[in-house]
Amino acid sequence: MSDSTPLETLLKEDRSFTPSAAFQQRSKYANPSLYQEAQSDPFAFWEKFANQLDWMEPFSEVCTWKPSDPDFSEAKWFVGGKINACYNCVDRHAAGSRADKIAIIAEGEPGEVVKLTYQDLKVEVCKVANALKELGIKKGDRVCIYMPMVAELPIAMLACARIGAMHNVVFGGFSANSLHERICDSQAKVLITADGGFRRGNVVPLLKISREAVEMGTSSLEKVLVLERVGSKMPETTQLDSKLEVWWHDLVTSQSSECPCEPMESEDLLYMLYTSGSTGKPKGIVHSTGGYLVGTYTTTQIVFDLQEDDIYFCTADCGWVTGHSYTVYGPMANGATVVVYEGAPDTPDKDRFWRMIEKHKVTILYTAPTAIRSFMKWGTEYPNRCDLSSLRLLGSVGEPINPEAWIWYHEVIGTERCPIVDTWWQTETGAIMVTPLPAITATKPGSATHPFPGIQVGILDEAGHDISQEHSGGEIGGYLAITKPWPSLTRGIYGDPERFKQVYWSRFPGKYFPGDGVKRDEEGYLWLLGRVDDIMLVAGHNISTMEVESALVDHHSVAEAAVIGKKSDIKGQSIAAFVILKSGIESGPQLIADLKTHVAAKIGALARPDDIFITAELPKTRSGKIMRRLLRDVAEGRALGDTTTLADPAIVNSLKAQYEDKEG
Ligand code: WT7
Repeated sequence: MSDSTPLETLLKEDRSFTPSAAFQQRSKYANPSLYQEAQSDPFAFWEKFANQLDWMEPFSEVCTWKPSDPDFSEAKWFVGGKINACYNCVDRHAAGSRADKIAIIAEGEPGEVVKLTYQDLKVEVCKVANALKELGIKKGDRVCIYMPMVAELPIAMLACARIGAMHNVVFGGFSANSLHERICDSQAKVLITADGGFRRGNVVPLLKISREAVEMGTSSLEKVLVLERVGSKMPETTQLDSKLEVWWHDLVTSQSSECPCEPMESEDLLYMLYTSGSTGKPKGIVHSTGGYLVGTYTTTQIVFDLQEDDIYFCTADCGWVTGHSYTVYGPMANGATVVVYEGAPDTPDKDRFWRMIEKHKVTILYTAPTAIRSFMKWGTEYPNRCDLSSLRLLGSVGEPINPEAWIWYHEVIGTERCPIVDTWWQTETGAIMVTPLPAITATKPGSATHPFPGIQVGILDEAGHDISQEHSGGEIGGYLAITKPWPSLTRGIYGDPERFKQVYWSRFPGKYFPGDGVKRDEEGYLWLLGRVDDIMLVAGHNISTMEVESALVDHHSVAEAAVIGKKSDIKGQSIAAFVILKSGIESGPQLIADLKTHVAAKIGALARPDDIFITAELPKTRSGKIMRRLLRDVAEGRALGDTTTLADPAIVNSLKAQYEDKEG
């Protein structure tokens, strides 16, 4: 962003949705005094929730941070306390009134369903924990997990937590290269994988890819534990290499179903998870045990209004932080019933999620805007053929949700009954940071609304001044910062403390800088604008790519849009849009002109795209984020940068060829 001009606020959204009286009556968290309580003494607020967990030894100090500290990057939480995350997610439920409650409903893509009670889960987790011990895993060791999203994936994570080993889950869509890099960087001793997983009717050859990764050479890896999932459907890997590899069913099944939980210091590390940096190699983000568990436990309970009889379905794979915080640790620390699904949302048909919601009577659905936009593109016939009346709350995470998608989610999936929580957070923050509270907040489509109770945010200008303190009314925009400590913040980048300081703490000293832009409207609502790298500077005005995308998608012929700033001699940057049309819509000069006019009418003439390019597909990462950096390469006629994190690298190559054809 330029100079100290606050980010301009262009897109207007006037619709507002208040929680229903029925929803409020049922909720434990319907009283706005929750905000005042947390704000007046955040440490006391977190302490109250920490005390709802089971500690092996009580903590003596909530947080070590003092206002005189240079920043809170080294704040320690629940000091002196000893705790085990697995105990809190499994044992305390298995030993109490939730022993026979379903913990996990796991549906494979081919359709089989496995249900585990908390008691069953404890047995499975203990067996895997004992197997890991037999393989030589001790407290503090790293275990890499490269598995399909079947019940054994959360079981493996919890087994690591039980014995104090750090897990390092690598998403099953990543390549041998990425897996190799993550095994080496984490110095993992054991890799847990499967012979394969089912995805879109095909087999993902996980063991074959694992072998390629191992063959690249690792200095730390001693054993590979292999779950049999696809069997003869992947004939190349039905035989194991007896020196390195061992079948799960040979090693795990015969283990004892008792295994003690390792008492961990609150600050001991629970896990690491790699997240792609905008440049350079991925960062191994590490999380603590006590603080992380308190953060995910508290936010799950309050943001999702979690109740004893809920059936909770988060569609994220455990390869992402959302799967860690909001499939495993947060919900299970609360003793919830969680649904996990292995495969694609359009297999065997485009109604798969809706069929699952109907079958398992899901009450809470947490998914991503990219998925919602696919559902919109596929059409309402798919959800409309299923009974979605069990749903009572919807969530969104991963990127800004454009108002059009929000309204569709509200009307078609929530049938206008379900509150929507648009939750802003990051791998690094561990837990939800900016979000509505479903029984308290009046929501506006596209706004993540307000900081979670106890979270303090600032809006900074270029010089780092917190303009949210100076301007009380009116609209403002700038860099988002978190100004006070909270328990689930990452404890750093594995093996690289310098990089941690440099990336998050150096630009605005004293504050945590997540890298996102934000605007605040005159009613105090926050609108997250995505990464500041994605904000354009057009003729001296800061315009967020997200706002132009939202305006485009608002047009009835547009299914999806990606907007970038393209270098321009005249304007600094000019706006280029890549647009996917809804099925059945024909492209043509008239439509392109209409789209430009539509954006100008929605936002203002300065946001009118200079170029609109109609395409069938957009380059996305495996977690569904559009890679605008590559679209800039295409538009500016450069060789494509690093494409290894793309879900399908072929898409951007063909896009480049078509673009050059048109330009040429
Ligand atoms: C980045 C973090 C958080 C788990 C999944 C992604 C963007 C995330 C929102 C939201 C606007 C959002 C931000 C953030 N983001 N949620 N509700 N509204 N932007 O985790 O891969 O660490 O990505 O995703 O830019 O910094 P991640």
